[in-house]
Amino acid sequence: MPLDPYRLVRPLIFRLSPETAHNMTFKGGRIAQGIPGLMPLLKAICVGDISSKALDACGLHFPSPVGLAAGLDKGAEILPLWKALGFGSVEIGTVTPKPQPGNPLPRLFRLPEESLILNRMGFNSEGAVVVAERLKRRPRGLIVGGNIGKNKVTPEEQALDDYREAYRLIAPEVDYIALNISSPNTPGLRRLQAPEALAPLLGGMMEIRKEMGLEAQPILVKLAPDLAFDELDAIVDVIAASGVSGIIATNTTLDRGIVSEINREKVLSWGDGGLSGKGLKLKAREVQRRIHSRLPSHLKLVACGGIGSAEDANTAMQDGAAWVQVYSALIFEGPFLVKRMLDGMASAL
Ligand SMILES: Cc1cc2nc3c(=O)[nH]c(=O)nc-3n(C[C@H](O)[C@H](O)[C@H](O)COP(=O)(O)O)c2cc1C
Repeated sequence: MPLDPYRLVRPLIFRLSPETAHNMTFKGGRIAQGIPGLMPLLKAICVGDISSKALDACGLHFPSPVGLAAGLDKGAEILPLWKALGFGSVEIGTVTPKPQPGNPLPRLFRLPEESLILNRMGFNSEGAVVVAERLKRRPRGLIVGGNIGKNKVTPEEQALDDYREAYRLIAPEVDYIALNISSPNTPGLRRLQAPEALAPLLGGMMEIRKEMGLEAQPILVKLAPDLAFDELDAIVDVIAASGVSGIIATNTTLDRGIVSEINREKVLSWGDGGLSGKGLKLKAREVQRRIHSRLPSHLKLVACGGIGSAEDANTAMQDGAAWVQVYSALIFEGPFLVKRMLDGMASAL
C-alpha cells in the first residue's frame, strides 16, 4: 500500500492515553461491526481473498497463520473486526473465573521510538460467565482461543480450582484453550510454571477436559520469556508428558535490558509490568528455538513476542512455529499490518 492511512492518524491516537485510545477503538469497533455489510466490505479493502493462506494445525483450520495474541480483546467484544483485518485466529482473554477490575490506572504505557509497550493490566476481566455468553454469538470462519487465568485473590494453592472454573465456562465456546501461567502482573502466577506446580495443574486440566467430553479440543500452555534454559527444558518435558497440544511462547518480559539505554530511565519510572514489542523479538526467538528443539514433533509451538513483519513471521515459521501471534506491532503499525504480513508470507507457506 503506497500510503497507509494509519500513518496519518497515529499521531492523533498517540496523543490520547493508551487506555483511552484502546477504549475508543473498541467503541468504534462495536459500532462498525453492527453496520450491516460493513465487515465484508472492510475485509475486501483490508486483505481481500486470503484463502491461499489457510493452514491446519492442532486439528483446526486457520484462515490465516497470523493470530491476535491474548490481552487485546479480553472480552471477545470485536471478533468480526479482527476477522475483517485478516487475522486467522484471536486469543480472547485472559479471562478469570470471577470478574475483577485489574490494577489501578495508569497501567499501560507506550514507547513509540522503540515500538515497545509496558503493561501491568493485572487481568482486568468481566469474568467467565459474561465472556462465555458473548462468545455464543462469535463469528464463524475465525479460530477463537480462550486464554484463561486465575483471580488475584485466589491463593496459589487453589489455582487449579480457578482454571477449572474458567475452563468449564469458556471451553465449550472456543476452538482451543490457552493456560496463562506466565503473566508477570498477577502475584505468584509465574510460579505455576515450576514443574512441581505445573504437573498437577496440567493433570487437573486433562481431567476436566475428559469430564466435559472435550478430549479433541487442544489445550496450549503460555510461557514467559524469562526462564533459564535448564528451567525451560524441565518445563517443556512436563508439558510434553501431560497430554496438552503445545506451547505459546512468549508472554511479556520483566527484563528492562531490552530497552535501549537512552530510554531505560523513562521505562523504569513507569514502574512494574511486562514489556512487549520489537525489543522482545530476539529474546522470544531464543526461547522458541529452545522449546522447538526439545518439543516432541506431535506438539505445536505458537510463536509470539515482537513479531511485526512478514520477515519476522517467516523466521518464526521456519523455526518451527505452527502459527504466529501479534499484539504490540498492531498498535504501532495499524490495521494493515496483517495484510502486509500475509502478502510477504506467501512464499513460506
Ligand atoms: C496491554 C497488554 C495486555 C496483555 N494481556 C495479556 C493477557 O491478558 N493474557 C496473556 O496471555 N497475554 C497478555 N499479553 C501478552 C501478549 O499476548 C503477548 O504475549 C506479548 O505482548 C508479546 O507479544 P508482542 O510483542 O507481539 O506484543 C498482553 C500484552 C499487552 C501489551
